[in-house]
Amino acid sequence: MSFAFGIGIGTQNNQGEWLEVFYQQPIMKPEKELIDVVETALNYKGGNHAIQVTAEQLTQFANALRQTGATDQASLAEKAAGSKRPVVVTVLETDDVASSTPEVYLKLHLISHRLARPHGVKLDGIFGLLPNLAWTNEGAVDLNELPERQLKARLEGRTLEVKSVDKFPQMTDYVVPKGVRIADTARVRLGAYVGEGTTVMHEGFINFNAGTEGTSMIEGRISAGVIVGKGSDLGGGCSTMGTLSGGGNIVIAVGENCLIGANAGVGIPLGDRCKVEAGLYVTSGTKVALLDDNNKLVEVIKARDLANKPDLLFRRNSQTGAVECKTNKSAIELNEELHANN
Ligand SMILES: CC(C)(COP(=O)(O)OP(=O)(O)OC[C@H]1O[C@@H](n2cnc3c(N)ncnc32)[C@H](O)[C@@H]1OP(=O)(O)O)[C@@H](O)C(=O)NCCC(=O)NCCS
Repeated sequence: MSFAFGIGIGTQNNQGEWLEVFYQQPIMKPEKELIDVVETALNYKGGNHAIQVTAEQLTQFANALRQTGATDQASLAEKAAGSKRPVVVTVLETDDVASSTPEVYLKLHLISHRLARPHGVKLDGIFGLLPNLAWTNEGAVDLNELPERQLKARLEGRTLEVKSVDKFPQMTDYVVPKGVRIADTARVRLGAYVGEGTTVMHEGFINFNAGTEGTSMIEGRISAGVIVGKGSDLGGGCSTMGTLSGGGNIVIAVGENCLIGANAGVGIPLGDRCKVEAGLYVTSGTKVALLDDNNKLVEVIKARDLANKPDLLFRRNSQTGAVECKTNKSAIELNEELHANN
């Protein structure tokens, strides 16, 4: 069984190189019959390939798809035949390291469509395949071609708005998964996994290959690779430590029903029902005083020894400055009203 499939509408630069691809209906583990059609109609011979197709090929492909009963993909192929932009049919036989921009985009789509979880697709080496682009109100533009496009727009009485200059576009220009609220769409990158019931407020941020499993209030940063469990709340400006830069290599996760306070941060994976006091950054090497219910010292250990343990409350003693850990007696309940509008 193949790994993934998608019909994509993309953008190329003046050299004919792919800049980005939009897959409206990506498929994980496509039926064999569908892949057979790609073989016969588009001369696909196995492996991981992004096949650029003409309008004529797409029309034939659409007819063949319809005969196998793949009506949704057939209708997408039919529409794509009329595209003013280049069209690609991408088949990933396996989840091997990607070798082209359309392949990377298909993998990022799988996550944002919630067809694969963060860490569920191999994303090694993707940076080299994602060109740094100007994301404009007229789509992706190669940075070398930007001055010409800006001038052209001005001469025609328009302004080309550059919304960001980045390797990743914002997720919502590709997919808005069901049941989410995202106050500032620029802060969620394609490749983010935004679970149903998640609210991302203006301060919130979700990187690619990272996200939330279900109902969550996100007002802080979810770094690449981090997954936040159901019912957890990331307070304003808080941080989950990433692994892409700065030396950390422990992949951070946040369990279910946790609260990371405003401006706090975590550098260890948290178990379920944990709380971190506002403003406290718990790094993996932080020495933590374990206290019993009467605030008596039990022992001092490193925070990494508390990784994935449930029901912990971390705080910095406001009188001594020592970081302390107690049993979290009150698991948080997310404010129902805040989530009612998803
Ligand atoms: C750490 C935190 C969870 C503690 O809250 P709490 O469990 O309700 O505890 P309380 O404030 O009722 O305090 C319980 C006791 O601990 C003491 N205490 C609380 N924080 C303390 C600290 N940092 N140092 C020393 N003592 C502390 C209190 O004085 C109180 O003492 P008492 O029993 O003698 O009266 C809370 O201060 C916090 O930071 N919450 C995060 C909120 C947040 O940021 N939400 C996101 C918004 S965007």
